[in-house]
Amino acid sequence: MAGSPDQFRGQARLPRFAAPLRYDLRLRPDLAACTFTGAAAIAVAVSAPTRFIVLNAAELDDLVPTDVVQFEEDEILVVGFDRDLPLGEGVLAMDFTGTLNDQMRGFYRSKYLYNGESRNMAVTQFEAADARRCFPSWDDPAFKAKFKLTLEVPSELVALSNMPVVSETVNGPTKTVYYEESPLMSTYLVAIVVGLFDYIESSTSEGTKVRVYTQVGKTDQGKFALDVAVKSLDLYKDYFATPYPLPKLDMIAIPDFSAGAMENYGLVTYRDTALLYDEQLSSASNKQNVAITVAHELAHQWFGNLVTMEWWTHLWLNEGFASWVSYLAVESLFPEWNNWTQFLDEMTSGLRLDALAESHPIEVEVNHASEIDAIFDSISYDKGASVIRMLQSYLGAERFQKALASYIKKYAYSNAKTEDLWAVLEEETGEPVKDLMTTWTKQQGYPVIYAKLNGHDLELEQAQFLSDGSSGPGMWIVPITSCCGSYDTQKKFLLKDKTGKIQIEEFTSSQSADGEKNQNIWIKLNIDQTGFYRVKYDDELAAGLVKAIKAKKLSLMDKIGIVEDSYALSVARKQTLTSLLQLLNAYDDESDYTVLSHVTSVCLSISKVSVDATPDLNKDIKQLLINLLLPAAKKLGWDPKDGESHLDVMLRSLLLIALVRLGHNDTINEGVRRFHIFFEDRKTSLLLPDTRKAAYLALMRTVSASSRSGYDALLKIYRETAEPQEKSRILGSLSSSPDKDMVVEALNFMLTDEVRNQDSFYILGGISLEGREVAWTWLKQNWDYVLKTWPSSSLISDFMNSIISPFTSEEKAAEVSEFFAGRIKPSFERALKQSLERVRISARWIESIRSEPNLGQTVQHLLQGKA
Ligand code: BES
Ligand code: ZN
Repeated sequence: MAGSPDQFRGQARLPRFAAPLRYDLRLRPDLAACTFTGAAAIAVAVSAPTRFIVLNAAELDDLVPTDVVQFEEDEILVVGFDRDLPLGEGVLAMDFTGTLNDQMRGFYRSKYLYNGESRNMAVTQFEAADARRCFPSWDDPAFKAKFKLTLEVPSELVALSNMPVVSETVNGPTKTVYYEESPLMSTYLVAIVVGLFDYIESSTSEGTKVRVYTQVGKTDQGKFALDVAVKSLDLYKDYFATPYPLPKLDMIAIPDFSAGAMENYGLVTYRDTALLYDEQLSSASNKQNVAITVAHELAHQWFGNLVTMEWWTHLWLNEGFASWVSYLAVESLFPEWNNWTQFLDEMTSGLRLDALAESHPIEVEVNHASEIDAIFDSISYDKGASVIRMLQSYLGAERFQKALASYIKKYAYSNAKTEDLWAVLEEETGEPVKDLMTTWTKQQGYPVIYAKLNGHDLELEQAQFLSDGSSGPGMWIVPITSCCGSYDTQKKFLLKDKTGKIQIEEFTSSQSADGEKNQNIWIKLNIDQTGFYRVKYDDELAAGLVKAIKAKKLSLMDKIGIVEDSYALSVARKQTLTSLLQLLNAYDDESDYTVLSHVTSVCLSISKVSVDATPDLNKDIKQLLINLLLPAAKKLGWDPKDGESHLDVMLRSLLLIALVRLGHNDTINEGVRRFHIFFEDRKTSLLLPDTRKAAYLALMRTVSASSRSGYDALLKIYRETAEPQEKSRILGSLSSSPDKDMVVEALNFMLTDEVRNQDSFYILGGISLEGREVAWTWLKQNWDYVLKTWPSSSLISDFMNSIISPFTSEEKAAEVSEFFAGRIKPSFERALKQSLERVRISARWIESIRSEPNLGQTVQHLLQGKA
C-alpha cells in the first residue's frame, strides 16, 4: 500500500490489514517520579500488502523505532517501512515512556496513607479507550489478542495483573514479576496495580482462587465482598453454563477511582465505597451497593470479557446485561432485599432520561474515541437492563437462560453485535426477537400507552412519550400485559400497530348480586412493570386503580408503576399536579421501602417545583407531603429495633432524609440533637451509620455564615475519619445549607486537596435549592479549572446535571446556553443539552401548574383529611 501516513487520520476504527496476535509487555513504573518506561513486542499478522502498521498511542513519548508518525488528535501511530511487509506473522517492537498521571485514566497514580505517610500506588483504568495511554496497542475491543506481562517494581510492593504470577526474580531494591499469558482478550480489560496491600482469600466450588486486596490492616472490610464474589461466580458458572474463564480472580479497592468499579479480566478494581463493608461503619445501603457492584463486575467476566461487544455502539450489551444479571444474582443471594422490586429504581432512571428529546438510542454510532465515555449512561445501563428484563419476561426465564448460555458458548473469546444475540435468541425460541427488540434498541425513547374503556373493549393507543409534552414519531412493538380485578387471569399480546384492543367481557360482565356493575373492578396494564413503557389510563380506569391501591389489591411493582407514570405524565402536562397529589394520598398507609422510595422521590420533586410554581402554596404542599410520610417514619423512629428487616433499616434512613428535606421541624431538631451527642461521643448508639446522613442534612439546614459551627463540626469529623463511606455521607451534606455563602464555601472546599477528584459528585449532588444561583456563578468563575481537573465524561457531566438542571426558567436556559457557546466538548455535550432540556421542561410544567384551577382548594382539602 502506497501513499502517506495521513491517509489513516480521522477514522473511527483502525484498518484491519495488520492485527495483533500477542503482546509481550514490559513496564517499569517509577512511583516516586510518577513516570514509567515500557517495551512492547507485539506479534502482528499482516493479511494484505502494506507499507504501514497503524495502531493507537496517546501521551506516550520516546517511541522507538523513530520513523513513526503520531497523530495526536486521532490518537494513532503510523509505523512506516520502506517497502511492503511480508504477509504473515512479524514482530513489532517498541520502547516508550509515559507519565503516571493524576487523571484516573490510562496508567495513573493513586494516593494512600501508610503509617501516616502519603504513598503512591500505580493503577490502570483502560475502559473505554485509554490502554493507548499506557502502551501502543490496537485499542479497539474487536482486536482481541493474548497478553503476557512483565513488571519491574520495588521489591516490597505487591504487583498484580490479570493473570497469576509465573515467577519473580528479586534484584535488590527491585523485582521483576512475570505473569502467565492471558487467553484472547480486548485491550480495555488489561490491568495492573502496584502498591502495598493485604489480602484475604477463598475459593469457588470449582477451585478458582478469589482474593480481596485492601489497604494494609483492613482486610476485615473485604469479607462481605469476598463472600458475594465466590457465590456469584458459582451462580454465573451455572447460569451461563460455562466455567469462570481464568485461573484466578482478584478484587481490589483503589482510593482514587473515576467510575464505581471496573471489570478488568481477573483483576477487578473498585472505588473503596463499592467494595469495602464494615458491620460497624457501613449502612444497609452501602451493603447493597457492594453486593450489586461485585455481582455486576463479575457478570462481566462472561458478558463483556469472554464475549465482548464488537464495537462501542454495542456497549449496552456489556452494561445492560451486567446490570440485569447482577439483580438476578443478588436476588438469589439476598431474597429478603426484594431486589427485583428495587430494580424499578433503575428502570425509572432509564425512563426519565429517555423521555428527553436529547436522549439517544441504546445503539449509538461512535465516530471518535472521545465520544465513547459519554454513552456510559442510564440509557446503556438502565434502559439496557430494562429491555432485557422485558424480553426475558416475554420469552420466559428458562428459554431465555438457555439461549444466553448458547450465545456465550458461540461467541466465547470473540466479539458479538446486538444482532448476533437476537439471532441466537430467535433460533432458540422461534420468536420474532429481532423485530421486537430492534424497535427498542435502534430507536430512542419509548411509548406511553393510552388506555380507555369502551364497552367491553379496552382500547389502546401508543405514542412516543416525551417529558416536554410533545408526541414524538416513534413506534414500538410493545409486549402488552394486562389483568383485571385479580392477578389470576392475565392477558398478553404484542401491540404492533398504533392502536389495539383487549376484550374484557368476562370482567365487565361479572356483576354483583344486586345487578350493579362491579364498582371494584380495576385494570392494570404492564403487570409488574416488566415493559419499558408508561400507561395513561382514562379517568374511570384511573379511579379504579386508586381504589385498588387503597384496598391493597396491587403488587408492590404495580403500585410503584402507577405513581411513577402519574408523576411523569404530570411533568409532561398530560395530567394535573392536583390529580397527582390526590393519587399520592392513596399511599398514605404504605409501609414498604420499595414503594415509599418512589413515593418520596415524587414528593421531593413536587416540593421543589412548587417553590417556583406556587410559592404561596409551597408551605402547605410540604406539610401535605410530610403528613403522608410521617406515620411510617414515626413507626420506625430513629433507633434500630431488634430483628428488624434490612428493608426497614433502609426505609428509616429514606424517610428521615425526606422529612428533613421537606423541612419537618421535629425531625430536623431531633437530627441536630443526635448529631451533637455523636459529635461528643463517636461511639454513641444514638446515631448509627444508617441515620447519620439524615442528621447531617438536618444539621446543615441550621447552618449559616453567621452561625457556622455545624459546618465546622462536620468538617472536623470528615478530617478525622478514615472511612470512605463516612466521608461520602459528609460530603453529600456539606453543600446543603440554605445559606448561599456556605454553599460557595462547600464548593470551594471541593477544589482543595482534601477532597479527592473522584468524590466531587457527592458535594455537587447535595447543593441546596437555595444555593443554585451561587453554584452557577461559581461554575462560570471556575469553569476552566473544572474542565481541566475533571476530564472524565461521567465526572464533568455531574457538574451539568447538578448545577444546571435545578433551574426552572427559559431565561436561565438561554443564559446557560450562551455561556457554553464556544466551550462545548464531546465529553459533556449531551449532558449539557439534557440539562438544558430539563430546565425548559420545568419551566413549562410550572406555567401549567400555575393555571390549575383546583390546586389550592385540593391542597386544603387534603390537608384537612377530606379528599
Ligand atoms: N465497565 C464499567 C466501568 C466503566 C464505567 C468504565 C464508565 C469506563 C467508563 C463497570 O462495569 C461498571 O459498570 N461500573 C458501574 C458500577 C455498576 C454497579 C453499575 C459504575 O462504575 O458505576
Ligand atoms: Zn459494567
